Amino acid sequence: MLSKREKLFLAAEALGCLACPTCGAALTRTGDDFACGHRHRINVNRKGCLNVLSAQVDSCYDADLFAARGRVFDAGCYNAVADAIESLLPEGSHRLLDAGCGDGWYLNALLARHADWCGAGIDISRDAILQATNHPCTALWCVGDLRRLPFGDDSFTAVLDVLTPANYEEFRRVLAPGGLLIKVYPGSGYLQELRDARRLPPYEEGQVDAYLREKAVVTGEQHVLVQHPVTPALWRDFVWMTPLMQDLSAEEKNAIAQRPARTVTIDLHVAACRVEG
Ligand SMILES: C[S@@+](CC[C@H](N)C(=O)[O-])C[C@H]1O[C@@H](n2cnc3c(N)ncnc32)[C@H](O)[C@@H]1O
Ligand SMILES: [Zn+2]
Repeated sequence: MLSKREKLFLAAEALGCLACPTCGAALTRTGDDFACGHRHRINVNRKGCLNVLSAQVDSCYDADLFAARGRVFDAGCYNAVADAIESLLPEGSHRLLDAGCGDGWYLNALLARHADWCGAGIDISRDAILQATNHPCTALWCVGDLRRLPFGDDSFTAVLDVLTPANYEEFRRVLAPGGLLIKVYPGSGYLQELRDARRLPPYEEGQVDAYLREKAVVTGEQHVLVQHPVTPALWRDFVWMTPLMQDLSAEEKNAIAQRPARTVTIDLHVAACRVEG
């Protein structure tokens, strides 16, 4: 079985598009690391990921959140979203970038279905990327900022941006001609039961939608609307996995976890777009 480091090198070779975060020149493998022609080096750590951040960033997303997210994904709650993403991608082999990939579930799900696809996942949270490296797929996992992607121009056939802030200029730069941005954003009913538990109003879906259509041309859309049955244990994981609860203390989250709903609403828009300028 390949080690995590070996998988990262294989993925980097398949993609062949790593760019130096300092000068933008191509990065190539030098023994156990990567370097550019200007001798800037990027270390690959033992966990099998790259870190291209110049300074560690404090993220409100911690390891507990990503562990809970992982269990929610494993329960199948987001399978319909992965199906929708896949159905919006054109036939053929893909080079995917999952921007703000979190624990990398979507990238792993898509690579597991298509042996000839390759991909990279980037997230600003180290905890997220460390969890992502546990997936069986061979992908290039990177701690970095989607506002300055460590990839050359025209590198990917599709960029996934799932419930994550977008940087349309960077997405346009790294997308190959004809490439697609797949943007996933909440509908008004998304996680309604969790919002009700905190008496929060529904999501305002109009703002993201309007901004997306200002920045990109939507060429295909799917609406995922599922009321997923939840056990008390899965409800607890939803409470711990969602940024909606991140300002609460552990005691407050536990109190909400002890009043489980029977279902959780997954209401997400999946849009395929062209961001050519
Ligand atoms: C709600 S989570 C979604 C994660 C994943 N796409 C999913 O659907 O499970 C938002 C993610 O965006 C990441 N993120 C936020 N700002 C970022 C940035 N500037 N660069 C890279 N990742 C970022 C966070 O660390 C977090 O993992
Ligand atoms: Zn360099």
